[in-house]
Amino acid sequence: MERLVIKGLSPLKGSVRISGSKNATLPIMAATLLCSDEVILSGVPDLEDIKVMSQVLRLLGAKVKKEKDVLIIDSSSVNAIELPDAMTRKMRASNLVMGPLLGRFHHAKISYPGGCAIGSRPMNLHLKGFLDLGFGVEAKYGFMEGKGKPRGGKEILLDTPSVGATENIMMAAALVSGETVIRNAAREPEIVDLQNFLNEMGARIRGAGLDTIYIKGVRKLGKAEYKIIPDRIEAGTFMAAAAISDSDVFIENIVLEYVRPVISKFREMGVNIIENGSSLRIIGKRPYKPVDVKTMPHPGFPTDMQAQMMALLTTVAGTSIVVETIFENRFMHVQELRRMGAEIALEGRAAIIKGKEKLEGAIVDATDLRAGAALIIAGLFAEGTTQINNIYHIERGYENIHLKLQSLGADIKRVLS
Ligand code: UD1
Repeated sequence: MERLVIKGLSPLKGSVRISGSKNATLPIMAATLLCSDEVILSGVPDLEDIKVMSQVLRLLGAKVKKEKDVLIIDSSSVNAIELPDAMTRKMRASNLVMGPLLGRFHHAKISYPGGCAIGSRPMNLHLKGFLDLGFGVEAKYGFMEGKGKPRGGKEILLDTPSVGATENIMMAAALVSGETVIRNAAREPEIVDLQNFLNEMGARIRGAGLDTIYIKGVRKLGKAEYKIIPDRIEAGTFMAAAAISDSDVFIENIVLEYVRPVISKFREMGVNIIENGSSLRIIGKRPYKPVDVKTMPHPGFPTDMQAQMMALLTTVAGTSIVVETIFENRFMHVQELRRMGAEIALEGRAAIIKGKEKLEGAIVDATDLRAGAALIIAGLFAEGTTQINNIYHIERGYENIHLKLQSLGADIKRVLS
């Protein structure tokens, strides 16, 4: 089993380049199913989740080639509309093929993705959207199946601005005649990237980034070349790594506007951040101020940065409160941070953190992707050695994180045992 071993208290220095966004790449890969031509994607991160999505596309009949950060996907030979249990269990986000399969073939059958470590994660909004588009939808025997002839000209109101539901509905509607309107849509940057990619293939979509998205159905989508946006959560994670270790680090290849909610919270803590085009310099120098954080849909503070932010706040004198409003069980990192000496009390969806002057290295488990990132950050500050197990969770979403931290001067190793 692979583990990460970190010896804390080495300051970081230098610059790090952020990879392409995992959460933008996954729906864009799924969207290639809408087109029976070749699509070339660049800026694709080298991650386990991307490999799983490539497997999913191949299983459906697509040809997928990867060369460095470029993916070439040819979906002209797609001949299957069904995704088995093994795939949706391997990666929840494989549910994102349902929208494009419905859009292109008017039929899709996907094993119902279960909950995961962070919450129950239902699919009701995705299915309601497909139903509103005019597809017949059934969820039984562990599968979700959609089929039938869609009707155009529909308004779909999401109860909550779900990222996945917005993406799935946008993709399904791209080839449905008439105008589909999604209200209370998610506004995340990855939705904007999906819109831009779909439009590059010939779709007619506007409004992404705001809460109403308008999709004018077209008959066909064609070949495209597209560059994926940088990963705003990876950028935020390196910001937290620099701040916790009182370090001076340049973070390159970011879209400042997309990282703004995190920058703003760090500034409130008193972290010095200098913005410069597509990069920023973070100059960590204590003392920092404790802050309250509430996760919200974009442009609020991202739930995917909650664990890393909490790791940082466990080292800031005073009391900070972190409230998680998106996922009901996203505090799995708390018990692991406590093993490292952090003082955190949980009350429902709130974590009350009393900052400590030091953390101690310990053997800890990465229970999910961002929880794992939080433990790396805590390990950089801890006295002694931190050993993180189950790092496959981390490698699902961070490209070479140990190598990137090593290049900044951290004492971190990936070991096999
Ligand atoms: C995406 C991201 C994930 C991020 C999350 C929230 C990807 C691959 N994953 O996940 O990293 O943490 O957005 O920013 O992009 N909900 C329903 N019914 C539904 C769908 C969702 O009630 O049909 C609820 C969920 O349980 C959750 C909330 O809506 O409480 C937000 O979930 P959603 O935005 O859909 O997250 P994902 O798209 O799964």
